[in-house]
Amino acid sequence: MKHLLCLSQWTSEEINETLKLAYKLKYENKNGIRHNHLLKGKSLGLIFSKSSTRTRVSFEVAMYQLGGYSMFLSANDIQLGRGETFSDTAKTLSRYIDGIMIRTYKQSDVEELAACGNIPVINGLTDSQHPCQVLADLQTIKEYKGKLKGLKLAYVGDGNNVANSLMIGCAKVGMNISVATPEGFECDAQSVKLAKEAAAETGAIVVNGYDPNEAVKDADVVYTDTWVSMGMESEKEKRVKIFMPYQVNKQLMQKAKDDAIFMHCLPAYRDYEVTADVIDGPQSVVFDEAENRLHAQKAVLVKLMG
Ligand code: CP
Ligand code: NVA
Repeated sequence: MKHLLCLSQWTSEEINETLKLAYKLKYENKNGIRHNHLLKGKSLGLIFSKSSTRTRVSFEVAMYQLGGYSMFLSANDIQLGRGETFSDTAKTLSRYIDGIMIRTYKQSDVEELAACGNIPVINGLTDSQHPCQVLADLQTIKEYKGKLKGLKLAYVGDGNNVANSLMIGCAKVGMNISVATPEGFECDAQSVKLAKEAAAETGAIVVNGYDPNEAVKDADVVYTDTWVSMGMESEKEKRVKIFMPYQVNKQLMQKAKDDAIFMHCLPAYRDYEVTADVIDGPQSVVFDEAENRLHAQKAVLVKLMG
């Protein structure tokens, strides 16, 4: 049984194969070639304890286009929200459906769901990881740059779930990554360790620092994310003050390579983590990136449930 809980648990080959399949499925989608036989008769449950636009819609459409069925399960509307355990939820859902996508808080809850059921589990974001996002990001970078190995991605901002998964994902495909966060907001130590282990195998360089100017130097990709992730709303005022020097604006973009692309997982908050002229400007690829959630996740679904 294969799951997608954290990219560290997938080999570089598995990630590269998934990206290849994502590319093929995107080509078919764009050229009117249907692939609705691939998950015919399969059902996917989508459990959400947090809000979502992209993840929810792209998974629902992916299942439809692959010939399967999906059901949105708000954690508040199923018994999980009233205290039923992840373990009992996993065992029960395993009797009805063929896979679970879950967006929740603790990574350990997603791991428990995977361990206790007997169907594939896909992590649709936890406080510590966002692997589906990063697969779509890698697909996008490959489309724009023609390769992944040897490129440099600079992540500037909060050392959050997206940053953790980007570090691991980049390291797995041999891309160098430089992360710059304020002190006290670094990526988590476990993710740094996993990224460095992957990097040791692929030759990628993983750097964690505090200087955004240094991070973006010679970068092919400049990436940021919100300073206030879901669940941290009460810290907004404090964070905005601390993070202002980490804003991705024109001056910072000019320090990256001339042909650098700008990426953001979205939702974005203009004039906080990124200025409008950057995210709405010519270097931004954020909507191609959002679109690729559909194609990359289709590849994941086919790989795990096909
Ligand atoms: N990037 C991302 O996961 O977006 P949603 O929160 O809208 O799903
Ligand atoms: N870091 C953000 C990502 C949203 C897709 C959050 O967790 O809210």
